Amino acid sequence: MKILVINGPNLNMLGKRNPKIYGTKTLADIENEIASYAKKKGIDTEFFQSACEGEIVNKLNGAYGSADGIIINAGAYTHYSYAIRDALEILDVPKIEVHLSDIHARETFRNISVIEEVCTLQIAGFGDKGYVMAVDEIIKILSEENSKR
Ligand code: DQA
Repeated sequence: MKILVINGPNLNMLGKRNPKIYGTKTLADIENEIASYAKKKGIDTEFFQSACEGEIVNKLNGAYGSADGIIINAGAYTHYSYAIRDALEILDVPKIEVHLSDIHARETFRNISVIEEVCTLQIAGFGDKGYVMAVDEIIKILSEENSKR
């Protein structure tokens, strides 16, 4: 089983970027934590970060039929990328939208997520823990689906 973890623009700057909002861990720290947590649960992880909308769309398209779950923090694209929204809609696997900060308690433009509707669940405001919570949610959803079969 494999989970694809996608991070969008400026998330490569975690650790340096506004630590009061986004914390002090780097993206590499967070990815290592997700990978070791998932491994303990017997799940492989793949990580992808890009500031380019089209690259994120291509990555999502490439995940068709190969990833069993998606964790995505689309960064600012969350609020306006219909292309990423449509690419997520194509994938019929659990898709968890993660935000380090609580986007509902910040500037008005961050309150709207155009990807929310096509994601299975949104986890926002739990810092980097949100990614590990997302792994657990995917495991839960997939095991519920399996037990129905
Ligand atoms: C973010 C919230 C977005 O509004 C922002 O543009 C980001 C990070 C978060 O993780 O809290 O880049 O997705």
